[in-house]
Amino acid sequence: MLETPHDPGGSSRYEHAAHGLRRRDLDPDPIKQFANWFTAAIEAGIRDVNAMSLATAGRDARPSVRVVLLKGFDQDGFVFFTNYESEKGKQLEANPYAALAFYWIELDRQIRISGAVEKTSREESERYFHSRPLGSQLGAWASRQSEVVDGRRVLDARMAEMTERFADKPIALPPHWGGYCVKPEIMEFWQGRPNRLHDRFRYALQASGEWLIGRLAP
Ligand SMILES: Cc1cc2nc3c(=O)[nH]c(=O)nc-3n(C[C@H](O)[C@H](O)[C@H](O)COP(=O)(O)O)c2cc1C
Repeated sequence: MLETPHDPGGSSRYEHAAHGLRRRDLDPDPIKQFANWFTAAIEAGIRDVNAMSLATAGRDARPSVRVVLLKGFDQDGFVFFTNYESEKGKQLEANPYAALAFYWIELDRQIRISGAVEKTSREESERYFHSRPLGSQLGAWASRQSEVVDGRRVLDARMAEMTERFADKPIALPPHWGGYCVKPEIMEFWQGRPNRLHDRFRYALQASGEWLIGRLAP
């Protein structure tokens, strides 16, 4: 087995984390806490700051994970867009729960979010779809995401077909494409600290609608 290096990031990233995460610094509202950390990550110039791992499992209960882009968040939840007929789409149809994870190496921070998943409204999907570059809109029509393809030429041919089909008319939102919103039930904020004694705080949504905050052992 090829062993990975002990601390590939080196010790510099710990400088950002020297003061850690304290209970009194946390916003009582985890969405606001997320917004604070997300803003800090943008200000730190982190690339692909909105890239997040999305874990799903279908009826067979076997988890699968892939990266998608967070396209918006508010008190309702965390939104990404995809193909509803992809592997993740089928899994979410069978089992509408998901988990998300962000890792921002430069800040040595991780955020985990899990909860039930709902499709966004067609209006919201429409709005986002039409804000994308034309090539991406055509790509959503051309690609049967997660299906086996015979070769690159099949994709190129589908793209050419769609380009012709929509040459002189607006590109409609494909019925198989749109957003999902992950409605958080658990959110965890993880701050790396020296000696692996990291700070972890978990927010758990209570039946009353309140968030219970607890510190977890690293
Ligand atoms: C940085 C990055 C961002 C991505 N963003 C998305 C996205 O927003 N939506 C999407 O459907 N796939 C996105 N992908 C591709 C997915 O990781 C994945 O290949 C695709 O959604 C098919 O997943 P599935 O077969 O599990 O359904 C992204 C990949 C990377 C590396």
